[in-house]
Amino acid sequence: MSALEGKHIVLGVSGSIAAYKAVYLTRLCTDAGAEVWPVLTPSASRFVGPLTFSALTGHRAITDMWASAEAGVIGHVEVAQRANLFVLAPATADLLARLVEGRADEPLTAIALATRAPWVVAPAMEEGMWRNPATQRHVQTLADRGARIVPPGDGPLASGRSGVGRLAEPEVIFEALQSALTTQDLAGERVLVTAGPTRESFDPARFVSNASSGKMGYALARAARRRGAQVRLVSGPTLLAPPSGVEVVRVKTTEEMLAACRDHFESFAALLMAAAPADYRPVAYSAEKLKKTPGGGDLLVALEQTPDILLTLKARAKGLVCVGFAAESNELLNNARAKLESKDLDLIVANDITRPDAGFEVDTNAVVLLDRDGAAPLPLMGKEAVADAVLDRVVALLAARRQGAAPSRDEAAPSTPAVLP
Ligand code: CTP
Repeated sequence: MSALEGKHIVLGVSGSIAAYKAVYLTRLCTDAGAEVWPVLTPSASRFVGPLTFSALTGHRAITDMWASAEAGVIGHVEVAQRANLFVLAPATADLLARLVEGRADEPLTAIALATRAPWVVAPAMEEGMWRNPATQRHVQTLADRGARIVPPGDGPLASGRSGVGRLAEPEVIFEALQSALTTQDLAGERVLVTAGPTRESFDPARFVSNASSGKMGYALARAARRRGAQVRLVSGPTLLAPPSGVEVVRVKTTEEMLAACRDHFESFAALLMAAAPADYRPVAYSAEKLKKTPGGGDLLVALEQTPDILLTLKARAKGLVCVGFAAESNELLNNARAKLESKDLDLIVANDITRPDAGFEVDTNAVVLLDRDGAAPLPLMGKEAVADAVLDRVVALLAARRQGAAPSRDEAAPSTPAVLP
């Protein structure tokens, strides 16, 4: 379930050309199950019509301080009290200044004063205005008061110039909203996630790989970030957009994935190995594209094993919470249990890849969470929900490890008797 489901979001829109992006943000929020209450400044209404927001949200956009006097219209005071989240996107330089001052001369600023909900502020303006010390001071003041700031991006601006000041993309703001409504139980933790397949080439056009889409690993990275973790996502080739706020390291081969995981490996509290690294690579590589043999002759490609990343990293993994994934076509639990043991994992997420609604490429998954205490099958659910279920376990494992309640995997290993019988 999305963190936005059933939540009341007051969306304040001020007068910027980027106001059109607030329309798409509204859609993302309503699709996630939120009730959105649009509030437009008078200049915002010059860029996008209030009717657009009213039609999308089912709530009449508030533009007028006195609208509440009209029968049946919920006014700004009530909206301020209802809000679970107060969002300003786009927030112009002028609005930021008025918010800092605590003015209440129009519905949006009045709601800002009245609401107790957490704030998310996404500024948008010309680069000069953004870099001006006055604006920077205002942004800092709002951040000091607890607002979550979604900084503007770099790119083409309304003036035709290019620079910093563009409203962050709606998907990025949407992530910030999700995060603002999510318990930050991974705050301060560094989490390493791998995703997608790897490719092992034998000529410039051909390679050995597998059907992994990367969706499960990307969902894990996004969910961990939402819960406050600092995330590095080591990704094989995928078509997925990088999750916002996540450090993405793109790799091609299994050997490269191993190297990217090793980089500052000791700094991570948890490893979530959702990637499907190619287990074999061609022994030889031809710099020229191999030509088809005339007459229908076979091409034999000799393969050798690539390093097993989990096994290689295991030796360096003291205290690390280690989660593996097992995509199986048969003997699901037996094969997964064998991997849990042989790779010395805390948890393995097993799924049956022969199901059409689970595993590779699709958005849903039906997994079994397996640890040394037993197996917990989860119902068919979206990969985002599976990611949260896995992260719930990671949070519990980290807490237990810190309190010393659960032995670390090193301590749990059967000790060798000092004197053999
Ligand atoms: N894995 C790994 N390095 C590899 C291959 C797999 O670290 N070279 C990890 C995967 O990311 C996953 C776990 O090991 O978390 C199990 O992967 P899977 O492909 O199911 O198992 P394999 O060990 O490759 O065994 P097999 O292919 O024989 O089932």
